[in-house]
Amino acid sequence: MSSLPESGPLQAATSTAVLEARNVYRFRSVDKQQVPIVRDVSLRVDAGEFVSIMGPSGSGKSTLLHLLAGLEPPTSGDVFLQGERMGGADEERLALLRRSKIGFIFQFFHLLPDLTVFENITLPLRILGKNPKKHSDRVRATMDLLSIGALGDRKPVALSGGEMQRDSIARALAAEPPLLLCDEPTGNLSSKHGEEVIALLSKVRKQLGTAILLVTHNPRDAAAADRVLFLHDGAMRAETALTGGPFDVADVFRRLQALGI
Ligand SMILES: Nc1ncnc2c1ncn2[C@@H]1O[C@H](COP(=O)(O)OP(=O)(O)OP(=O)(O)O)[C@@H](O)[C@H]1O
Ligand SMILES: [Mg+2]
Repeated sequence: MSSLPESGPLQAATSTAVLEARNVYRFRSVDKQQVPIVRDVSLRVDAGEFVSIMGPSGSGKSTLLHLLAGLEPPTSGDVFLQGERMGGADEERLALLRRSKIGFIFQFFHLLPDLTVFENITLPLRILGKNPKKHSDRVRATMDLLSIGALGDRKPVALSGGEMQRDSIARALAAEPPLLLCDEPTGNLSSKHGEEVIALLSKVRKQLGTAILLVTHNPRDAAAADRVLFLHDGAMRAETALTGGPFDVADVFRRLQALGI
């Protein structure tokens, strides 16, 4: 395992940061020009923290999540996962970091249609070379937490959108990662199912201590977090701390309006 230097600019700020980005940029080639898609983003998510990211379509939210997940490298800047600098890891180490430390949840679920719910959920364990049977008690407990305990033998085609998303949350939690990265997890759901999914993410954070980074267009979803970060044209424009009280959604709305996004 690669380790951090004792001191110096690449040392993680504190041991409680599960994710940290420092001065991250990502350029892409558009019409033969190098265009900045993510610009000088620094952020930190502590263990067990719930943080939302809001921003208009095209502001770079998904690109940023990809960089944070080590799915593509930043053009410059550093990303640390539990203190380990991802830019310093070789491909094999990076794959292991991603699989063991990060759970992903997407707008379109990405469930494998030929596998049952239980097989989908335990797939990350198989990929990590673990025997799902040895972990089946914990997996069943996670399925119960997400109210899909009775659906294990079904195929995804026989599930509602909300059930599919709960299946994908259980899959994201299979390897017991300290961090969930969620890209618009309610974007393809009815508002009722979307609210259920956000309530379940809060429950997962509370009961399992999993840190959550949630990208969303929905201020109501964003307000379930401890903090909201606002991204505009690839740059962090502002941050709002929330209280968990009834005025949080209005606060998020006000902040969006004040920023013109
Ligand atoms: N592979 C690519 N090549 C060139 N430009 C890209 C590529 N992928 C994304 N972009 C551009 O980067 C910008 C940010 O895209 P990104 O998907 O990160 O935005 P987003 O905030 O997630 O948007 P949405 O809310 O619609 O999901 C957009 O202008 C997009 O067109
Ligand atoms: Mg996106």
